Amino acid sequence: MKKIAMLYICTGKYEIFWDKFYETCQKHFYPDAEKEYFIFTDSERVLRCKLPGVHTYYQAKTGWPYDTLLRYQWFCTVQDALAPFDYCYYVNANSEFLRDVTEAQIPYPTEREPLVLSLHPRYYHDLDGSECSPERRPESRAYVAPGTPCRAHCGAFWGGTRDAVLEMCRTLRDRTAEDLADGVIAVWHDQSHLIKYATEVPHQNIAEFLVSYEEYADPEKCLLMFPAKAKYGGNDKLREVSRDERLKHLPRKIYRSMLGGAKKLHLDGALKGVARIVKK
Ligand code: GAL
Repeated sequence: MKKIAMLYICTGKYEIFWDKFYETCQKHFYPDAEKEYFIFTDSERVLRCKLPGVHTYYQAKTGWPYDTLLRYQWFCTVQDALAPFDYCYYVNANSEFLRDVTEAQIPYPTEREPLVLSLHPRYYHDLDGSECSPERRPESRAYVAPGTPCRAHCGAFWGGTRDAVLEMCRTLRDRTAEDLADGVIAVWHDQSHLIKYATEVPHQNIAEFLVSYEEYADPEKCLLMFPAKAKYGGNDKLREVSRDERLKHLPRKIYRSMLGGAKKLHLDGALKGVARIVKK
């Protein structure tokens, strides 16, 4: 029987997602495998939970965007505990498995392609980074030169063989730390580093429609869904940061594409907020 380690972060308000994630992951994610959970949280409730195979680690909320950016640092702290596992997977806190994930739908990592990566559903067919927004500032270690084939890999779900995941976490831990030492934060934080890393290492991409944010999901096909954060007060409330603060460092080109996305999805609140910042 395969042994799988699930890596999971729920700090601050994100603890509300834990129960649904745990219940649906236990039920649907490779039901035939043996799963254990490595949870980084500041929630007393989650820290105290005594479920079998659930290991909890105190992790303070570090503030946006560090709550997401520093994930590779945190995962490296449990490297030794991951030794007994065949595979490791990370999933966003707001994750719900809707149906069984089996090898037929998402094959296990292999020796040749030891990482398994998901793609952002909105940019699934972007094959060169022209629609999604890879880091284009050469001062960041997440920099992807224009013209380099690159896809919209998604920070919300990724996995691989234990060794490949640990190698990735160590590499991206070092790159984010070096960026920070230079005062640089990649445009989409940990996700930008993942996008760059995927241009460098062999991996398999998960087929379209299987993993999706709710806003883009086909309910007939989706196996793993990230529920719309709007239902839980929105991105900024969950992240405990104001929208202006969260977006003010982003390049204009990215606001424009966000405006396009918000319009398409009729997200009126988001639209107003982004429009206000674009004006400034
Ligand atoms: C989101 C992703 C998160 C994290 C974040 C970085 O799209 O779901 O896991 O990578 O981007 O800003």
